[in-house]
Amino acid sequence: MGVSMAAAKDWVERWERQQQRYAVDREERFTVIADVVEHVVTGRSRPLLLDLGCGPGSLSARLAARLRDAEIIAVDMDPLLLELARTHHADAARYVEALIGTDGWTDALEADRPVDAAVSTTALHYLAEPALLDTYRTLAGLLRPGGVLVNGDHFPPADGACGGVTAHVGRRRAERTDAHATEDWQSWWAAAAQDPELADLFDARRRVSACGGNGSGHFSAAHHTELLLRAGFAHVAPVWQYGDSCVLVAVKG
Ligand SMILES: C[S@@+](CC[C@H](N)C(=O)[O-])C[C@H]1O[C@@H](n2cnc3c(N)ncnc32)[C@H](O)[C@@H]1O
Repeated sequence: MGVSMAAAKDWVERWERQQQRYAVDREERFTVIADVVEHVVTGRSRPLLLDLGCGPGSLSARLAARLRDAEIIAVDMDPLLLELARTHHADAARYVEALIGTDGWTDALEADRPVDAAVSTTALHYLAEPALLDTYRTLAGLLRPGGVLVNGDHFPPADGACGGVTAHVGRRRAERTDAHATEDWQSWWAAAAQDPELADLFDARRRVSACGGNGSGHFSAAHHTELLLRAGFAHVAPVWQYGDSCVLVAVKG
């Protein structure tokens, strides 16, 4: 069960374009996350990074290009996206299939030392609150003292009345950058399903999603902060925001 280099390249490039619809200023957000990680690992040899919900390796590839000495373990539940990552971004990371937030999900990581930084983009909102809190606790245990969780995701404002404003600001930005000119999430998956090269991977994907396990939680940065502090992180701060798109940094004491 594999995919050719050419097909993986095409599907990953299409993924990159469709994801711009969902993460305002996505490329800048990746860059900010890499800035934070660079700051945290300065002076450390062979830092260990964890990419949570890596999809086809988008964030891992950017981090690997910036931080050449880093070892990256990239985790996702989706065998199809993981295979695209393993083929198109083969050298960026070690890719691991696991369902984040379920019992024992970290066993598959085989991390041999404490993690310097856990990162994630547009993924942790898939977790319902109990799984999210549990994941934050697990990450606090995996990180070294001073290590960070850097999460770029949608964080609607705690004050619901402001939600329309942040959504509008994001939409306007997307229009100015032509982010909506490309196919959306559904069209990408529908088109991929027609590619005979991906047929076996779709079968594998159906088997995984039949196991279920995912909820959905869109929480404010304030609520994430509360959960992170409860989970054992010492400090939490947003470092970047555009509309609802935000990068939240949590530091282990
Ligand atoms: C919108 S995609 C983002 C992928 C990538 N981080 C990016 O920025 O392009 C969300 C990813 O999270 C993964 N995901 C969602 N819930 C997960 C879970 N509980 N365990 C592992 N992966 C999960 C999905 O399979 C998908 O690859």
